[in-house]
Amino acid sequence: MKPTLVYTADGSHSIYLPDLNEHYHSVHGAIQESMHVFIQAGLHAVSIDPINLLEVGLGTGLNALLTLLENKKKPRKIHYTSLEKFPLPAEIYQSLNYAKLLNVDAQEFLKIHESDWEVPVVFNEHFQFTKHHNSLQQWKTTQQFQLIYFDAFAPEKQPDMWTEEIFFKIFELLESGGIMVTYCAKGVVKRTLKSCGFEVQTLPGPPGKREMIRVVKPKGTIL
Ligand SMILES: C[S@@+](CC[C@H](N)C(=O)[O-])C[C@H]1O[C@@H](n2cnc3c(N)ncnc32)[C@H](O)[C@@H]1O
Repeated sequence: MKPTLVYTADGSHSIYLPDLNEHYHSVHGAIQESMHVFIQAGLHAVSIDPINLLEVGLGTGLNALLTLLENKKKPRKIHYTSLEKFPLPAEIYQSLNYAKLLNVDAQEFLKIHESDWEVPVVFNEHFQFTKHHNSLQQWKTTQQFQLIYFDAFAPEKQPDMWTEEIFFKIFELLESGGIMVTYCAKGVVKRTLKSCGFEVQTLPGPPGKREMIRVVKPKGTIL
């Protein structure tokens, strides 16, 4: 079954996947959730410049758009890399209301979806964007990141994305002192992250969700 456009409580769109019975965002508000989890608890927590940022799951492109916009307020150099295994069809991403709600040029949002895969694309002098049509499991890189947005489907829907193997890969991808943020706060996820060597912080979640997770790769870790 095809992905379906739905409204969330803050008026912003999300996608519903009938096959998986799963939404791309919190139904309490997609923009609200992305701002809280990825921008406020992630982007604002890392002051380094330039910053290498990795997103696991490009999806609607909302996190990329919010990061691009946030960076215009107090610019620093961001290299934004995003992985996506199942890109959305054009009729879906073209209908998303994020550019309208955030009062930005629709072309700037569409560029996230319509720029070429596998090559760096310059959005402005402070924001470079590279998307890879690949899964986290298969993707190989020598790059390291200071910040990772981990935005996979929920553990009960996509358990293979919340395993020790995956979090070891995240650990290796992070520079020492780097952080990863995710909307999920399940106990089993925290325990798995701890067993991979992360310092785990439980933070207040966005409206409608009690908690979220931020992890730090301890400074001085050699890996
Ligand atoms: C919860 S959605 C969130 C997407 C996005 N960050 C957004 O704001 O729309 C999860 C995304 O991860 C993608 N995905 C699923 N499995 C993946 C994998 N193994 N590697 C990379 N991305 C994956 C899905 O196709 C989907 O776009």
